[in-house]
Amino acid sequence: MKTSPTNPPAVSHALRCVHCGRIDPADKPPSPSFRCHQCGELLEVIYPEWSGAGREFALRLKEVWKERKTSALLENASGVWRFRELLPHVEHENVVTMSEGNTPLLALPNLRKSLRLPGLVAKHQGMNPTGSFKDTGISVAISMAKAGGFSFVCCASTGNTSASVAAYAAHAEMKSVVLLPAGQVASGKLAQALEYGAYVFELNTDFDGCLRILHQVVERFPSYLLNSVNPYRLEGQKTVAFELMEQLDWRVPDHLIVPGGNLANSSALGKGFMELRELGLIPTLPRISIIQAAGANPLVRTMRENGGRELVRVNAETRATAIRIGNPASWRKAVAVLKTSGGACEEVSEEEIFAAKAELGRDGAGCEPASAASLAGLKKLLGSGFVKSEQTVVLVLTGHMLKDVDAILESRVHNAPVVVEASAGSVIARLEQIDGKG
Ligand code: F0G
Repeated sequence: MKTSPTNPPAVSHALRCVHCGRIDPADKPPSPSFRCHQCGELLEVIYPEWSGAGREFALRLKEVWKERKTSALLENASGVWRFRELLPHVEHENVVTMSEGNTPLLALPNLRKSLRLPGLVAKHQGMNPTGSFKDTGISVAISMAKAGGFSFVCCASTGNTSASVAAYAAHAEMKSVVLLPAGQVASGKLAQALEYGAYVFELNTDFDGCLRILHQVVERFPSYLLNSVNPYRLEGQKTVAFELMEQLDWRVPDHLIVPGGNLANSSALGKGFMELRELGLIPTLPRISIIQAAGANPLVRTMRENGGRELVRVNAETRATAIRIGNPASWRKAVAVLKTSGGACEEVSEEEIFAAKAELGRDGAGCEPASAASLAGLKKLLGSGFVKSEQTVVLVLTGHMLKDVDAILESRVHNAPVVVEASAGSVIARLEQIDGKG
């Protein structure tokens, strides 16, 4: 362990297969597609030194993390790197950060009343630098790429990952390559990738097809894969759990509800909470529930049809394009999170997603369609009694409303704009009608 007088020590990490359990030290390079050398399954980052670190290490973390909030150091302005004791060690010159994380926890006043759920809040991950939760994970994974001397980074994406990869690559003076399913990416996200200077390839296949092809590309062309099969992505994304616990003054919520696509975010959140519990910083886990669109529901079917033993792949179709995924890479990790935390796995219809999205908008917490699946799912879980009115619930809103404005303009759930004569009188006449005085 490297120690410094003021900070807790940086710990080393290793990579462990989530299926066969094989452990490789961090200095043994993983395969370019981050698959286990032995069985081909996904890897996860572990920190073998924690077990010997003791309670004192954990308690000092809380203090150090708090102090860093007022520090000018680049890493401390990041809502990810501020928690660096629980991340892989990266030298200062290789850390790529744009002050990601630091996202607000919002009260939802109208929804609290209509759902009779006073303990409801939303963690708005759409307030990250490129407008989605992806930035927290990309910051860590691209830092590993920089430390490894790569000049090309790449991803397959339903849109948000590509925007994030493109921005962080530009910031780090690296080249980014993104594979997108042609015609299935919201225009705001495509525009971001272009503006940040990515090499954008549109493929005539879906997200699952893009990812399959990208695995072949990285085996033959030296580029660093930034999809969430890369276990370092999840390390960045898990820090949301730490930041959230600080915002809740370390009171564990009863429920955390998150949309599921490739199932990395739910896995990362689960990992974050489990590590906090392992370190003795929280006594229990929240129940982490995962919500999928009914047309893109492989995890729902996997849980329903075989209790999480074997993935049921589906042909995905939903207007919530961010989660239009039928063959989720991180399904084993997500099943483990559901089982360990006691969460539910639900599916919601297109109508339920869009109704929920408009309701979040009316609370000032607008988000993109995929994010609204969390509220649609909450309503179902309230209906079934899984969530109770006296409980505390955190909805994870994963992406910003402006990512997909077409989805807003196409949906017919809002008051249409009113065309009036260009005079104050006609505007006031309308307002008086609205106010009930007309
Ligand atoms: N919400 C949004 C806004 C997303 O962009 C995604 C995934 C998810 C939820 C699901 O997260 O895959 O970790 O279960 N977007 C990826 C992308 C696939 O390429 O941008 P997940």
